[in-house]
Amino acid sequence: MTNQRRILMTIALPYANGALHLGHLVEAIQADIWARLQRMSGVDCRFFCGSDAHGTPIMIKAKERGITPEQLVTEVRAEQLRDYDGFSISFDSFYTTHSPENEALAQLFFERLQARGDIFSKTIEQAYDDNAQMFLPDRFIKGTCPKCKAAEQYGDSCECCGATYSPAELIEPISVISGTKPIYKQTEHFFFDLPKYTEMLKNFFDHETLQPEVRNKLAEWFEAGLKPWDITRDAPYFGFNIPGTTDKFFYVWLDAPMGYIASSEYYAKKQGYDYLIDWHQESKTELYHFIGKDITYFHALFWPAVLSGGGFRVPTGIFVHGFLTINGQKMSKSRGTFVNAASYLKHLDPDYLRYYMAAKLTKHVEDIDLNLEDFVSRVNADLVGKVVNLASRNAGFIHKYFDGQLASHFIDETLWGKYLQAIPAIIADLQALDYAKAIRHIMELADLANQFVDHYKPWHLAKDETQLTLVQQVSTQSLNLFRILIGLLKPIVPGLAARSESFLACEPLALNNLSTPMLGVTIQPFTPLLARVTTESVQAILAEAQASASRA
Ligand code: MSP
Ligand code: ZN
Repeated sequence: MTNQRRILMTIALPYANGALHLGHLVEAIQADIWARLQRMSGVDCRFFCGSDAHGTPIMIKAKERGITPEQLVTEVRAEQLRDYDGFSISFDSFYTTHSPENEALAQLFFERLQARGDIFSKTIEQAYDDNAQMFLPDRFIKGTCPKCKAAEQYGDSCECCGATYSPAELIEPISVISGTKPIYKQTEHFFFDLPKYTEMLKNFFDHETLQPEVRNKLAEWFEAGLKPWDITRDAPYFGFNIPGTTDKFFYVWLDAPMGYIASSEYYAKKQGYDYLIDWHQESKTELYHFIGKDITYFHALFWPAVLSGGGFRVPTGIFVHGFLTINGQKMSKSRGTFVNAASYLKHLDPDYLRYYMAAKLTKHVEDIDLNLEDFVSRVNADLVGKVVNLASRNAGFIHKYFDGQLASHFIDETLWGKYLQAIPAIIADLQALDYAKAIRHIMELADLANQFVDHYKPWHLAKDETQLTLVQQVSTQSLNLFRILIGLLKPIVPGLAARSESFLACEPLALNNLSTPMLGVTIQPFTPLLARVTTESVQAILAEAQASASRA
């Protein structure tokens, strides 16, 4: 047995009814930076995700396209995986909730919860589309907001005034599917008795280092009182059949988080270990879920309660992020700011976005804005101007005069000392998800390195043969400073880091070798490590988003 720290982490499973967009990437990038950091620190960190396959929207979308939901899920899952890969998201497994593992889990949880008396059934009245012969989820009913009278609002909440209500309160409701007025019909549903878990959930979070915003939300929800959770949907539905019924299915949100377990189970099987190592009640593995603010209730309340009732371990922590806006506005198809991940990748290097998002991400639940003008200037000024430039302006001297060989000592030990001293604080900020702060600090270090080069002016010195030793020392130190900057940035910009490692011909950068200087060794010829972002490529992405908006 080793006592290596072991972490299992997840991001929310994207619905399998559409392409990934830049909003999804906020979460994937935030989590992937953290996963890479853990691995660089020598932690055994496994990162899991998958497609969320079930629910009415997926069923309807498949029907519209004349394919089965399974076909749609297979197709979308492949695209999602391709796009996450394109952004260097380093999953250990990307599975699907429509899998045999997940079905077995859903049944197991249901049986265990039932045996504990946590499931009860109740007859409810629900909106029904007589024309389409199906019960209607709230989002499939539209009508006029009972509060502010805005037209065309969804059955659960108003986008104009923010009111939440039940679909029965809508004025002139219509079914989105057939356009007819819904009727109300009785149906028997299973409920999960969440209130029974109130004390458990309150205590469970006392031990957590939750973000203050999440803590406040939880306090509000406890104050309002937890309510039983309807975990049933009637046929037709794409999901798992509830045991003992033929026409009732588990609500997508019951089996969705179980997809985290299923994804790790599928991976464990391939790797030849027992997935329960990470999921049994006494597991020493730390478990973290990265999620957006809109799905906090599911992850902070339902999921820990279901896990605990099902005899599984509970999460160690959840990390909640805000929403992405583009140029200060909510991403919107009609405004042409709904940028797909694939469209971005056609024109731009993924590291640009990874860097920009990291520069904006804090540990708070704040929305983050992708301002496209700022994106171009920030990436060019920081990554290209300050970091890559440090290597490009020094590599030439080492090759021209010294056959690629670095000097055997530095010229400014004080500056080197400053770098070494700064490392722990930067790592701590990255660990704490305060990426913005870490990047500010890294760029301050980069400024110091460039001032150092400007001070010695190796391009002047090189004109005088007697000064060449000094040139070698200045450039050697600059390249060593560059190496530390790249090491700190490695979880954020893995592509740039890999190219830089080849150029420096050094060991893969890790936290335990970061402060070891490279002296007397030979480096590779310099090849451009990162091109500048052009405004034209950003325009091209926006044009694509606008074109797909006008097609819709
Ligand atoms: N399928 C559920 C999650 C199930 S997890 C057991 C779901 N899917 S989603 O595709 O709608 O969203 C996936 C994740 O992306 C969520 O954490 C959500 O908050 C996040 N985001 C979706 N749009 C986003 C932005 N515009 N900005 C930032 N994050 C966003 O919810
Ligand atoms: Zn309203």
